[in-house]
Amino acid sequence: MITLGIEGTAHTLGVGIVDSDGRILSNVLDMHRPLSGGLHPREAANHHADVVADVISRSLKEAGLTLCDVDLVSFSMGPGLGPCLRVAATAARALSSMQDIPIMGVNHCIAHIEIGSITTGCGDPVLLYASGGNTQVIAYSDERYRIFGETQDIGVGNMLDKLGRELGLGYYAGPAIERLAAQGDKLLDLPYSVKGMDVAFSGMMTAALALHRKGERIEDIAFSVQETAFAMLTEVTERAMAHIGKDEVLLGGGVVQNMRLREMVGIMAEERGARMFCPDRRLCMDNGAMIAWLGNVMYASGVRMRIEDTAVRQRFRTDEVRVVWR
Ligand code: FE2
Repeated sequence: MITLGIEGTAHTLGVGIVDSDGRILSNVLDMHRPLSGGLHPREAANHHADVVADVISRSLKEAGLTLCDVDLVSFSMGPGLGPCLRVAATAARALSSMQDIPIMGVNHCIAHIEIGSITTGCGDPVLLYASGGNTQVIAYSDERYRIFGETQDIGVGNMLDKLGRELGLGYYAGPAIERLAAQGDKLLDLPYSVKGMDVAFSGMMTAALALHRKGERIEDIAFSVQETAFAMLTEVTERAMAHIGKDEVLLGGGVVQNMRLREMVGIMAEERGARMFCPDRRLCMDNGAMIAWLGNVMYASGVRMRIEDTAVRQRFRTDEVRVVWR
């Protein structure tokens, strides 16, 4: 069975194609890059609408297939930005009716887990999902993927991007902050906001900007933000692993491309006799292949959806989905 998946929760419009063995036949992305300011949902949605037909064509071409070869179309139903979600859903509905093939709306966060599991070979991990819009610690328990901890305000990637913008590093500032952090060596005092199993980041951004105004070096600010934010994420991930007795940790989301975050989680895993798994860079980011793969997995386990069931859900929680495929 060939599944074509369309991702469109935030800045990326992605189209991936997979077969039922989990082979990724193509995975094409087109990311919206704001000219100024932050990510505006309407502008991102306009970008997605402009590129979606072309990205579908490129993905089919890369896979060496035509639309007639596609047996199932899946799309990111949520969580995400409403206008962006609607573009992906509309494209999926159009393909489904045009080709007379089934449609599947999938949860974006669960797609990160399933693509990570199939491509890295981990079996029952705790997922640390760290991206711009989402920061959650998720694991399977009793027929659901449950959220064991999450951000109470903004995603860690959103914090890094906003901070980078204020510091003049451009948008999608994570890589620039990582490069600067490598030249910092002074650990400045920043709020370490772990509340139970949850984390919060907006106070850290305010404090970091205050340090900048006081004249602290930007390299030391970047270093301190990374050390503090990633220690918080590592702490709650470790606590989730200990609490539910799991010995695998899987990384997902754009921020896990940061080598210092990987190093910290890797050390934690090693110290507790656990293993860390990290998918390829293009599968950590938001992408269509993960949406296609989860669509395939759900369909194979008997889940069916009608067009009428495909309304998007901006606040779609992972634990709303009954996991019938495990
Ligand atoms: Fe994501």
